Amino acid sequence: MYDFKPVAGQSRQDLYAELLAAAGALTGGESDGVANMANVAALLAEFLPDLNWSGFYRMVEGELVLGPFIGRPACIRIPLGKGVCGTAAATGQTQLVEDVHAFPGHIACDAASRSELVVPIVREGAVIGVIDLDSPLPARFDQDDARGIEQLAALLADRI
Ligand code: SME
Repeated sequence: MYDFKPVAGQSRQDLYAELLAAAGALTGGESDGVANMANVAALLAEFLPDLNWSGFYRMVEGELVLGPFIGRPACIRIPLGKGVCGTAAATGQTQLVEDVHAFPGHIACDAASRSELVVPIVREGAVIGVIDLDSPLPARFDQDDARGIEQLAALLADRI
């Protein structure tokens, strides 16, 4: 049994340090990318409050295809440049969206989502997927979240 849980009341910095340590421990000895994405999707849901969706899209033959996640069933394929995920994948840039209704072309997979953070996963200069977090709260994510998830993406780049 794995019992990775965040310590209540800790700082955001400590929370991300713990999340990264747990993700490192869970994925370090495992070469199966699907297993690693599945466990990290579960860790994200466990560690980060106020999420309604946490998971992965993978770059497959030039488009994003749904990967392991926790949340409601989601759209399966996202063309590059479309929505928040497709924009992150096309630009290679983290997308921190305080109000998804104000993001042109946002793809609503869960009508409850109000804010979103999408971080590209880059291996050898190429985007191989994205980490996608959704929240029912407006402006749920800030720069600390972006930096924390970017570190997670870097850790996972050769483990998925
Ligand atoms: N909202 C995303 C689509 C994926 S779901 O949030 C899981 C987007 O606009 O790309």
